[in-house]
Amino acid sequence: MSVSPIELSHALVVSRLRAAGCVFAEDEARLLVSAARTAAELAAMVDRRTTGLPLEHVLGWAEFYGLRIGVEPGVFVPRPRTELLVTHAARLARPGAVVADLCCGTGAVGIALSAVVGPIELHAVDIDPAAVRCARRNLASAGRVYEGDLYRPLPDHLRGRVDLVTANAPYVPTEAIRLLPAEARDHEPLTALDGGADGLAVQRRLAAEASRWLRPGGALLVETSRRQAPGTSDVFARNGLVPRTARCDDLDATVVIGTLIPRTLR
Ligand SMILES: C[S@@+](CC[C@H](N)C(=O)[O-])C[C@H]1O[C@@H](n2cnc3c(N)ncnc32)[C@H](O)[C@@H]1O
Repeated sequence: MSVSPIELSHALVVSRLRAAGCVFAEDEARLLVSAARTAAELAAMVDRRTTGLPLEHVLGWAEFYGLRIGVEPGVFVPRPRTELLVTHAARLARPGAVVADLCCGTGAVGIALSAVVGPIELHAVDIDPAAVRCARRNLASAGRVYEGDLYRPLPDHLRGRVDLVTANAPYVPTEAIRLLPAEARDHEPLTALDGGADGLAVQRRLAAEASRWLRPGGALLVETSRRQAPGTSDVFARNGLVPRTARCDDLDATVVIGTLIPRTLR
């Protein structure tokens, strides 16, 4: 029985990926073989993957919420667990909602939210110029992308008007960074991962300023971990946000949703 060149490439790629320790060698090989336009391109992609570059950086995209999101080198790869953040934001958003996606990375959260809810007024922010470039490319005309620190670059006219602030901000405690997989440690920037001593440093700043930007009844949604969720909730409550926690064991995902109490009721 003859073997087609594609089957041959697939088998060779699987064996190289296996030898390099890739757990999902079959799936990865299928994606790499279908992405490469030439044999030379395939060989280069396999080389990059076997030296430890995340698959998504090799391919140039990640699957997120059923969508293909462009991922550029050095930019945080959107994780499946962050889909829970989108699901809960989508439950609260209506078409036309004003949404600020802070710490946007590739822009994945805002893009997925627009896909589920329909057109929204999306403002995305990241402090890392590489992430801002990537998000601008991904969002195109679907939203505005600003470079800067959390709320700082948002236009003043949004104060008190924002329906939802979404943030998958860095929340890994500094000491735990060394325990992350090498793919993350070596190929994603520390600013995307490091949440300070207890992992909640950026969340504290997000919560502290939320009431200046959210409309009464609006909500701040952040991704956190199961272990950190009580701390995240406490930070929210101290800042006038009524917290509730959503959990999905299948995705190992935790989101804390804080609703801004109107000033008259505080
Ligand atoms: C964990 S990644 C999440 C990216 C994206 N939201 C996602 O879920 O794929 C955190 C992102 O926050 C950005 N970031 C860290 N500190 C920031 C700050 N003070 N202001 C704005 N962005 C920040 C990083 O550059 C990084 O892109």
